[in-house]
Amino acid sequence: MSDKLIIFDTTLRDGEQSPGASMTKDEKVRIAKVLEKMRVDVIEAGFAIASSGDFEAIKAVANNIQDSTICSLARALDKDIDRAGEALKGANSSRIHTFIATSDIHMKLKLNMTPDQVVDQAIHAVKRARNWTDNIEFSPEDAGRSDEDFLCRIIEAVIDVGATTINIPDTVGYNIPNQFGATIKSLIERVPNSDKAIFSAHCHNDLGLAVANSISAVMSGARQVECTINGLGERAGNTSLEELVMAVRTRQDIFDCDSGIDVSHILSASRLVSSITGFIVQPNKAIVGANAFAHEAGIHQDGVLKHRETYEIIRAEDVGWGANSLVMGKHSGRNAFKVRMQELGIEFDSDDLLNASFKSFKKLADKKHEIFDEDLQALVSEAQSEEYESIQLVSLKVYSETGESNSAQIVLSINSKEVSAIANTSGAVDATFSAINSLVDINVNLQLYSVSNVTQGTDALGEVNVRLESDGRIVNGQGADTDIIIASAKAYIHGLNKILVAHDRAHPQV
Ligand code: KIV
Ligand code: ZN
Repeated sequence: MSDKLIIFDTTLRDGEQSPGASMTKDEKVRIAKVLEKMRVDVIEAGFAIASSGDFEAIKAVANNIQDSTICSLARALDKDIDRAGEALKGANSSRIHTFIATSDIHMKLKLNMTPDQVVDQAIHAVKRARNWTDNIEFSPEDAGRSDEDFLCRIIEAVIDVGATTINIPDTVGYNIPNQFGATIKSLIERVPNSDKAIFSAHCHNDLGLAVANSISAVMSGARQVECTINGLGERAGNTSLEELVMAVRTRQDIFDCDSGIDVSHILSASRLVSSITGFIVQPNKAIVGANAFAHEAGIHQDGVLKHRETYEIIRAEDVGWGANSLVMGKHSGRNAFKVRMQELGIEFDSDDLLNASFKSFKKLADKKHEIFDEDLQALVSEAQSEEYESIQLVSLKVYSETGESNSAQIVLSINSKEVSAIANTSGAVDATFSAINSLVDINVNLQLYSVSNVTQGTDALGEVNVRLESDGRIVNGQGADTDIIIASAKAYIHGLNKILVAHDRAHPQV
């Protein structure tokens, strides 16, 4: 029997630390439900002390998830740990994940503490966490650049007082696979009570090595990997869950462990995270990219048609490609719509939200005769965010002609009052954004603008992502429509609404 490899998903915490990826409570619950369906073992739902919004989101995830353990991050401080414990009270199974930095550079320049003080604080934190749960994870932050003797000392001390998982973070993505694996092996061998804890890897992708480093850790005895859907995360991201899980599953001839992940939900999880956060998946991304299973060269196609194993190591259907993708049409009723949404992990908190989403579905079905799962996800993301938005798009008329300037005439509802504006510039999208800016008193910089198609064909929904910066705060906005200029307006307005409600939140590692 091979060992169990624990999958710890931190999309809702480390993933949320990506610029502009911050999520609402409802969005976190939606993602958590898909993670539960995938049989993720541990869901890190947030950093409870970061903001009251994050606290409420962890609470909501804890109350809505039955099968996965729910975890909150906490610095090694009493107030953080108690806040995490409070947020997790409703969970069937909970874990507190506490951390303190252990590298010389972090201890000296960030914490201004001596190594002895750091060890004492770590011990105190783990003991404090035990007032709330027996399931305690400890991370020596920046372990990837920490002195190994010191790591052995602090790890032994925290296991002694009850830490059950020891997570080794390569916080700045500095490690190289054979070296990271050797560190894990050496820690397990050298720490006298290492058999009383599970060792875990948490790798960042600054050198593009997060998955490789995690795999090396698993081969060296780690039995938990921390990862995120689509590899989302701080800077270059974290270990991608889908890549790690599929590598271990595909190469069972090499690994003596396997995860319990139901891989058939991988693609829908990837799409959901991408549509909620506005982080597009690159086409050549392994497993979930649009080209991951597309065979271009004639010789490959020929081989695949004769015998798929000639060029395919994973069956596309196994990870959710092509499965049930054609779902509904214009004659589908409200109940069929609701049931299909439930199958996609989407529950409606209110009848109003169900009705708004169903109305958008009917409108879309009039324009586009085949409706796919991805279309449904995009519709709900939009309906869910509109519920709380103070700026709404009422109508947009755009005039475009070769060689002429473009004009956009827009009507917005701002706090339920209709206002309108016209702008003329050289491009249709630019004119639309200028017209919106003239009606809204927010100073923003557009940092990113991208358009992609949600499904195939010229009648597909176009999804627009924008990244806006205002007073140092960054948000991502998304909008989908069969008309990409309207999708652009929706995305821009979505971003502006986020800026209006965004509140300050503490960053765990600063
Ligand atoms: O990268 C890191 O060090 C972290 C810790 C909080 C585990 O995210
Ligand atoms: Zn991290």
